[in-house]
Amino acid sequence: MKNGCLDEVPEGRNCKPTSLKPGCLVRPIAPTKLPGRYVAHQKFLPRLPVPPLQQTLDRYLLALKPIVSQEELEGTKQIVEEFAKQGGVGQRLQASLERRARKTENWLSDWWLKIAYLEYRLPVVIHSSPGVVLPKQDYHDRQGQLRFAAKLISGILDFKTMIDNETLPVEALGGNPLCMNQYYQILSSCRIPGSKRDSVVNYTQTKKPTHITIVHNFQFFELFVYNSDGSPLTVDQIYIQLEKIWHSSLQTNKEPIGILTTGHRNTWANDYNTLIKDKVNKESVKCIQKSIFTICLDAPVPKVSDELYMSHMAAQMLHGGGSRWNSGNRWFDKTLQFIIGEDGTCGLVYEHSPAEGPPIVALMDHVFEYCNSSALVRSPMIPLPMPRKLRFNITPDIKRDIEKAKQNLNMMVRDMDIKCLVFQHFGKDFSKSQKMSPDAFIQIALQLAYYRIYGEPCATYESASLRMFHLGRTDTIRSASVESLAFVTAMDNPQQQNQEKVTLLTKAVQAHRAYTDMAIRGQAIDRHLLGLKLQAIEDLVRIPEIFMDTSYAVAFHFNLSTSQVPAKTDCLMCFGPVVPDGYGVCYNPMDDHINFSVTAFNSCAETNAAKLAHYLEQALVDVKELLVQTPSSKL
Ligand code: COA
Repeated sequence: MKNGCLDEVPEGRNCKPTSLKPGCLVRPIAPTKLPGRYVAHQKFLPRLPVPPLQQTLDRYLLALKPIVSQEELEGTKQIVEEFAKQGGVGQRLQASLERRARKTENWLSDWWLKIAYLEYRLPVVIHSSPGVVLPKQDYHDRQGQLRFAAKLISGILDFKTMIDNETLPVEALGGNPLCMNQYYQILSSCRIPGSKRDSVVNYTQTKKPTHITIVHNFQFFELFVYNSDGSPLTVDQIYIQLEKIWHSSLQTNKEPIGILTTGHRNTWANDYNTLIKDKVNKESVKCIQKSIFTICLDAPVPKVSDELYMSHMAAQMLHGGGSRWNSGNRWFDKTLQFIIGEDGTCGLVYEHSPAEGPPIVALMDHVFEYCNSSALVRSPMIPLPMPRKLRFNITPDIKRDIEKAKQNLNMMVRDMDIKCLVFQHFGKDFSKSQKMSPDAFIQIALQLAYYRIYGEPCATYESASLRMFHLGRTDTIRSASVESLAFVTAMDNPQQQNQEKVTLLTKAVQAHRAYTDMAIRGQAIDRHLLGLKLQAIEDLVRIPEIFMDTSYAVAFHFNLSTSQVPAKTDCLMCFGPVVPDGYGVCYNPMDDHINFSVTAFNSCAETNAAKLAHYLEQALVDVKELLVQTPSSKL
């Protein structure tokens, strides 16, 4: 067992580049039923390129312009020149990186997995794992809860069939097929804590697991979801099994063993070793890790007004509400945990290391379609064995670890400031009618909102998909640009004519869209700079000055960390800020409205999630007004 893990993470394969049409989107290509299609598809995906050094350095200086002072920029220009000069360290590192790209399937993916996730030591709760709020369901009691859970499980198993048969529709971005690897990593996976670095394991490489885990009142159960002939249990059968679990876990004074997974990763790694010293505990933990996914049947939480409902649910999905509520009703290392309340609330939380949000919400879209369309299959009531309760022997040491984990988690929960906003005034249809990219439109409005509060822009991160490339994950779209700053400063300037403001808005939106196209083609700057820095560490050369410079620190201190996670379902993803004085902003643009989540930390006096959400709403309305009132501005 290496780092406490049971198997190695598998890797895929790759090949040659293709071009991309601008204004593109993720859209499924017609499904195919050829077995082995996944492997064949993956083989022909292009490899992630290493951008030219000078191109990245020029773009880096340009990206610094709106966020550092002129003086700092001048200093950085000299450092960059030194770095880039003929025969200098920059060129040597670039050559090493290009060599790495020739030798590996993806020069970035292993590094990224380690740096962004497995070596990141803050708790996965809030700091890494996103939550998703799903539409409220029409049930209000335990029976409804279990019935919905049974349907949901059946829907996920239906999706799993496409993964198992390799018939999952291949997605495309602007006509270019995307890497589908993430879909093959999200079921039967789990993160495992390690003292310096965690690992993430997918258990489908050997004998495919056939059970899921159910947690209710902090007690875990193993539920086999396939019959002996390999067919999945019907909704009725699953329901009956869930009822059995519910009845045998009514005791509420159980130790919330799952709360241990909310700890700082070093702490949890220590606690994990203590926990699995006991054979029974080890076996129970292994059962959770190997399960296909987890269903959390949550205890009721206090009712709140309709206005507060979504923000409260986002908190439930993100962290479970604290040790008094449902935070112990989770195993936060599990890749996929679906959360179902007694009052119709539902959602999920997922451990981020194997995948980005889009595959997760695509799975949810499928499940919701399945739940809404599939007729209930009545099945003969063949008696099924009682699902196995997973036992834990709680020693005094483990009890002490649980108490500490509760205290720390409760502090984190109190520190979390969340505001969800359903922006009702318009959706992506409006930006499209203005011939503007909806995503760029939202990002520029966010720049305006931030500028109105703080009087200056900040380094802004938006995730861009690199899935056009084999094993691609993400790069960064830097939304604070020279053009966005020109627009936000002009917008509230009474001296500026509306026509000029519209021209500046159009330029800002176009610049954002152009950055997006560059990023999804693998030509953005963030991962390239990271690669050069990591290459310096690997080649044991002194860390070049460019990475020690104040401008670099400013550029990578993302006060705004943002992401679009679009879905067909009217849902909303949420995640925490990435810096103590920052915001996390996630949005799902629907045709006629936009769902937003905004998070911040209460411990930071300068941030306020509700305030940013309010300013964002106003900024979107004002930008629309500007366009509507200036009709000649239409492109
Ligand atoms: N005029 C009219 N329509 C336009 C337009 C224009 N100028 N530009 C774009 N559109 C349309 C698009 O065709 C698309 O249409 P659709 O609704 O029919 O699909 C729609 O507007 C959305 O396009 P846009 O807003 O530009 O965004 P996008 O779909 O290209 O997405 C990103 C942009 C950056 C979000 C996407 O490329 C990406 O990388 N997503 C991954 C995000 C991710 O991984 N997040 C991780 C979270 S954990």
